[in-house]
Formats: sequence, C-alpha cells, structure tokens
Amino acid sequence: MTASLKKTVRMGTLYGVGVGPGDPELLTLKAQRILNEVGVIFSATSGKSTKSLALEIVKDLLSPDQKIIPLHFPMTRNKGLLKRAWNENSDTVLGHLKKNIDVAFITLGDPSTYSTFTYLHRFISKKEPNAQIEIIPGITSFQAAAARLKIPLSEGEESLVIISGAKGERELKNVIDTCDNIVILKAYRHYDSILRLLEKRELIEKGLGARNVGLKDESLTTDIKKWDGKNPSYFTLLLVKKQNSKKKL
Ligand SMILES: C[S@@+](CC[C@H](N)C(=O)[O-])C[C@H]1O[C@@H](n2cnc3c(N)ncnc32)[C@H](O)[C@@H]1O
Repeated sequence: MTASLKKTVRMGTLYGVGVGPGDPELLTLKAQRILNEVGVIFSATSGKSTKSLALEIVKDLLSPDQKIIPLHFPMTRNKGLLKRAWNENSDTVLGHLKKNIDVAFITLGDPSTYSTFTYLHRFISKKEPNAQIEIIPGITSFQAAAARLKIPLSEGEESLVIISGAKGERELKNVIDTCDNIVILKAYRHYDSILRLLEKRELIEKGLGARNVGLKDESLTTDIKKWDGKNPSYFTLLLVKKQNSKKKL
C-alpha cells in the first residue's frame, strides 16, 4: 500500500471519570453524559473483592448494552506486581481504544487525587502517545466531608494541604507543624499513630473525622477522641483545623 492510500486509524477516547465519593447525586452533568455515551466502562477492583464502589454509584445510569469490565489492581507495595497489573490493564484498555471504542474508567472522587487512573493514564500515554485521553473531574471525598460537617476547608489566607496518612506519623509531622488546615486521606492505615501525633502536638481537639461519606453507614465527628476508631474503614479521612473554630457555621 502506498503512503497516500494508507488510512489513518481512528482511535477511541479514554475518559477518566470522577464519580464523587458516594452519593450518586454528586456526579457532575458532564460525567453523566460521558457515561451515557461510551460503549465500555472500566472499573477498578482490588484485594479479593470484585466489588467496585465507583460502579455502585453509577450503576443506575448505565444501560444493558454497555459493557462493564472490572480491572484488577492489587493492593500491594510490591512494585513488580503493581507494574504487571498496570501493564496488563493498560493493554486491555488500549485494545478497546484501537478498535475505535470510546471508553470510561470510573474512579471514586476525583481522578487527579490519589487515583488509580493516574497510573493507567501514564502507561497508556507511554505506549500510545497519540491516545486521546480526557479527564472529567469529580467531587473529592474531603470536599464532600467538609460539606457534611458544615465547615470551611480554608478561609482568607490560610493554607490547606492534602496528605496521605498511609506513610504514618513521620511523614505527617512536618505538614502538621506548618499548615493551617490539613486533610489526611487514607487515615485508616495508621489511625492510632496519627491520633497519638495529634495528641502530642495538642491538636487532637482541632480534629474532625468523616467515614463512608455519602454512603448508608456514614459517620461524622467533630470530636475524634470520642469517635469509634477501632478498625477504621478504608473510607476514613481526618481533618485538622488549627486556626478556625470547627463549630458549624
Ligand atoms: C485512594 S484515596 C482516593 C481519593 C479520591 N480519589 C478522592 O478524590 O477523594 C482513598 C481515600 O480517600 C478517602 N475517601 C474516599 N472516599 C471516601 C468516602 N466516601 N468517605 C470518606 N473517605 C473517603 C479515604 O481517606 C480513603 O482512604
């Protein structure tokens, strides 16, 4: 075939769609439209479970002729296993894009905030630099938590930092000492040591907590000392407000 006769192969678009933290009404109109238009929806699963909370949130919007494909991402720090999963999963998504199928990868909260979507995006862009990828932002867990707790995340010239609690006390120390408002995601992993650190810094009274925001077993507190912290669920976050009163507005 001569160069002039060569057809340009059209590829589908990958949408990274944020579906919010739990309440289906927190889905954006854009997310709804994209989810109605794509042929395939990919959702991440991890651990032994094949259940995806992101899928639960959007399931009533989907039609039977849309294909739902779970992608397994193991919850491990083993870099080899992780790389293999990202590699295989990006191949699966890319296979659909090469058949000119528009697809969505749904992700809890926002796709740019501690999301598996980031890895998928990176792997696909590396393998296929011309791939069409769009990101549809979603409402984050901490925005929804602040709304449910009726508190501002930050005001005036205050600083606001979002940090993962997964690395434990050491990583948190600097941030806690220098910032006005701190959001600690993935707080379940080192919950007790995070609380001990807040206690040591005399910040425990300034802490608030939110668990399973927007879900049926939602739990909120303005007094984390008295909150039932035993076996905190994965969907637990903490907020520390150093300057402001944490009283409801
Ligand atoms: C991998 S991060 C994902 C963050 C998500 N992309 C976002 O925009 O909020 C997972 C952490 O987010 C927080 N999280 C997500 N959904 C939540 C919910 N419904 N209620 C409370 N915390 C939640 C928890 O701290 C959890 O450990």
